[in-house]
Amino acid sequence: MTGRSLPPGARIRALGHAGYEVAHAGVRLLIDPWFHPAFLGAWFPFPDNRALLQGVTTARYDLLYLSHEHEDHFDERVLAQLDSDNITVVIPDYRSRSMVKRLHALGFRNLVQLGHKERYEAADGFVLTMLLDTSHKEDSGLIVDLGDFRFLDLNDCNTPLSELPGDVDLLSAQFSGAMWYPNCYAYPDEVQRRKTAEVRGDLFDTLVRKVRLTGASTYLPAAGPPCFLDPELDRFNDRSSTIFPVWDDVAEDFAAACPGVATVCLEPGDTLGELGVFPPNTPDRGRWRTEPEAYLAAYRDRREAEWQAYHDEPFEPVGAVELDAYFSKLISFNKRFLADYQRDVRLVADGTTWAVRLGRVGGALEEDPVDAGYTIHVPPRALRAIVDGKIGWEEALLSLRLSLHRDPDVFDLTLMSLLRYGNHPAQTMQMVRERAEAASGETIERCGYAFQRFCPHAGEDLALADIDGEGVLECPRHHWKWDLATGECVSGGTVPLRVEPAGRTDPSEPVR
Ligand code: FES
Repeated sequence: MTGRSLPPGARIRALGHAGYEVAHAGVRLLIDPWFHPAFLGAWFPFPDNRALLQGVTTARYDLLYLSHEHEDHFDERVLAQLDSDNITVVIPDYRSRSMVKRLHALGFRNLVQLGHKERYEAADGFVLTMLLDTSHKEDSGLIVDLGDFRFLDLNDCNTPLSELPGDVDLLSAQFSGAMWYPNCYAYPDEVQRRKTAEVRGDLFDTLVRKVRLTGASTYLPAAGPPCFLDPELDRFNDRSSTIFPVWDDVAEDFAAACPGVATVCLEPGDTLGELGVFPPNTPDRGRWRTEPEAYLAAYRDRREAEWQAYHDEPFEPVGAVELDAYFSKLISFNKRFLADYQRDVRLVADGTTWAVRLGRVGGALEEDPVDAGYTIHVPPRALRAIVDGKIGWEEALLSLRLSLHRDPDVFDLTLMSLLRYGNHPAQTMQMVRERAEAASGETIERCGYAFQRFCPHAGEDLALADIDGEGVLECPRHHWKWDLATGECVSGGTVPLRVEPAGRTDPSEPVR
């Protein structure tokens, strides 16, 4: 650690992935506890944190913070075992009420919903401040001020960079991927390698920006990577060929990019206090690093019943009538979002192929479209879970059990947003608002160009975007690029940027 130390008596204990216990001033806060397999039995905490589970479910907590609903942050099996009568749950004030409803169903009644930058004083010297992803995405981070020590838990949230606080002592943020692109796409090996390297580079760039903008004196790698214990998913444990590196793969570049920033790596059970880190004396400590294959094999054996459960659960394959009804409902929920959009998707489940027309009028078709553009291979049992509403496409995609192909190889924002958020229309309706705002919202001027301030993909503040000497702007979040002379999206997607027609007016202005 460099910079300020935790106040006397305060401690932050790592629970694995993005989970923490924070104790100070007589208050105990539990953050995003995750212990059970997520996303169709695909993701497991890495390294194994199960030894801590009983202690967490029997401990007394005053506060619980849940950043968002992804299963690696919102572990219902753990939440169901907590003392719901005596815990105050601090959650983001999202547009959709889904999280609130699920917490009520679990018996939690004391909810504190905080909007972007709203504060909650848990005790004198223990203050929480919510940070939202201010776009349609429902994701959040939390500032935890302990006396004059500032812990920023960004987990995998992308609050706009311009909204991040400064003066951070300890930043916990994602460095590894948590997405199905590009590893679930059917690319030739060389293309897959290049795209994987690009995503890893983008993740690293985003991390470095977060560290620099927050002024963090110490960085705590967190929120991934998970591991995949089902042998059918074993290829995703390859740290060099996927978007799931471990910290050792990144540490050297980080030290070069952020000199002077300390790194503290906490294993599950490690506690950070005023005087530094106190690791527990567990025999397996660090073995995931020194003997990764043996560690993973033993972990796989210990959890066989859990990953095998996905394969053993009886299910009825989905039929055409059900599928048609499912997509018809999804489309009717999202009519305003879809507007005049139309897209044919080829859905393949265990040898059966359906053609699905997505648009204001749509549903499952009987004939295979000649030119579907997108093909999605989905395991029949995953499709059953989607159609039954047990999971959404977002969770199914995150399971990495699906395979995708697109031709041309261009990201379709409307299609992926419909699948990812369409079962919570509050999010797609927000995208409708964002589109309207893009047409008339705030304009900024930089380097002689005038353009919309917030990224048309997912709302990043383009005031901090890079602009190269050719007038190409690169968004700092997902690295889409636009030609500022025309507004055309030249890399990443197809959504244009609103630009002023007059081009660069002051070529002598330095480009940053
Ligand atoms: S927010 Fe995704 S590219 Fe800008």
